Amino acid sequence: MDKLIVAQSGPLNGEVRISGAKNAALPILAATLLADGRSYISNVPHLHDTTTSIELLGEMGVSLSVDERMAVEVDTSSISSFVAPYELVKTMRASILVLGPLLARFGEAEVSLPGGCAIGSRPVNLHIDGLRAMGADIRVENGYIHATARRLRGARIVMDIVTVTGTENLMMAAALADGETILENAAREPEIVDLADFINAMGGKVTGAGSDTIRISGVERLQGTRFEVLPDRIETGTYLVAAAITGGRVRTLDTRPHLLDAVLAKLRDAGADIHYGEDWIELDMHGKRPRCVDIHTAPHPAFPTDMQAQFCALNTVGEGVGTVTETIFENRFMHVQELKRMGANIKLEGNTAIIAGCQQLNAAPVMATDLRASACLVLAGLAAEGETMIERIYHIDRGYERIEEKLAGLGAVIRRIAG
Ligand code: UD1
Repeated sequence: MDKLIVAQSGPLNGEVRISGAKNAALPILAATLLADGRSYISNVPHLHDTTTSIELLGEMGVSLSVDERMAVEVDTSSISSFVAPYELVKTMRASILVLGPLLARFGEAEVSLPGGCAIGSRPVNLHIDGLRAMGADIRVENGYIHATARRLRGARIVMDIVTVTGTENLMMAAALADGETILENAAREPEIVDLADFINAMGGKVTGAGSDTIRISGVERLQGTRFEVLPDRIETGTYLVAAAITGGRVRTLDTRPHLLDAVLAKLRDAGADIHYGEDWIELDMHGKRPRCVDIHTAPHPAFPTDMQAQFCALNTVGEGVGTVTETIFENRFMHVQELKRMGANIKLEGNTAIIAGCQQLNAAPVMATDLRASACLVLAGLAAEGETMIERIYHIDRGYERIEEKLAGLGAVIRRIAG
């Protein structure tokens, strides 16, 4: 298995291009199942998870071609199977996103139940309940969700927890349902807005995406279209934290500043000078050590759980004490034990990590446990004396395109060892 070796680096300096958003590309690729004709999706990030999505569609008989810039052309006319097998779902939970589109367009779907994962139990009951409310017949047997429906019908669905992929699955299903669906307490993430824009570009009728009430008027059919995936706000935030933790100055390009309001506010609290234009953000730390900040994760537009681990790394070397409270996932502090092995001063109390910044972390062999935890360890490695060896970095390849190349372009001393 590949490893990353990260040496103390910085201050990081330069420009880095941001890739398309993983969490928008995955639902958009699934939504191509809704359309007749070809769809052409550009700015798809080259990641393990997007490759898995392409493989999943390919296994169903969908024909796909990918050019060298990861623009994906999808033609669903050759589809021959409506199954998402365990082998693929276990490597990527977001495979559940094919459930709604398959059911809405073809009237049947068989999707493996995702199991638990490192950050929590992550059930999909709200996806299933919502589809049942739209008239689907769903059995859960032998680890699979078996779903059938003649034609889904619109319904008013109040979700009792804000769920991102749950909202997406129901929005896609409703796009071809008979009548109007109203999703209440819907997730408001920018990736949901991007998916709604894609559905509308295919001829759908979705309004209210980005608010907590989304209305979808079902249409008879949708037509394939061209669409560009929005930039990845979590990748953007991760490179900005890399600049902050090393006292550096970094400009992220091809991004959208307003997707990161909560994150930029915390970086300013940490002492960063931040400027932005329409599609770039520059963070300048002026060589200073960051201040520790308090973080409380919550659904968008509040601070994203997908940036929590990176801010834990920032706090470990900050001035003062910062508390980090995780409210979305019950077990998303696996990185804390690894950071402690590097000399970090962290006390865990329930879902809160109390972090007292130290002057200097020390390199240690550490293990990545999930996607964002691995990014956190890379960031900590940039600030630690010596060479940090990070194992199990296949997690990082799920969500960060060429991270070692992009960081090296900013002056980081980082290399991958194939194993
Ligand atoms: C998505 C993101 C992930 C991000 C997360 C929270 C994608 C592909 N992944 O994951 O990067 O960390 O949102 O912002 O977009 N829940 C239930 N029942 C359900 C569904 C969810 O109880 O049926 C709970 C989950 O266990 C969790 C909370 O709701 O505690 C939020 O999870 P959810 O928003 O669904 O996360 P994902 O969509 O899986």
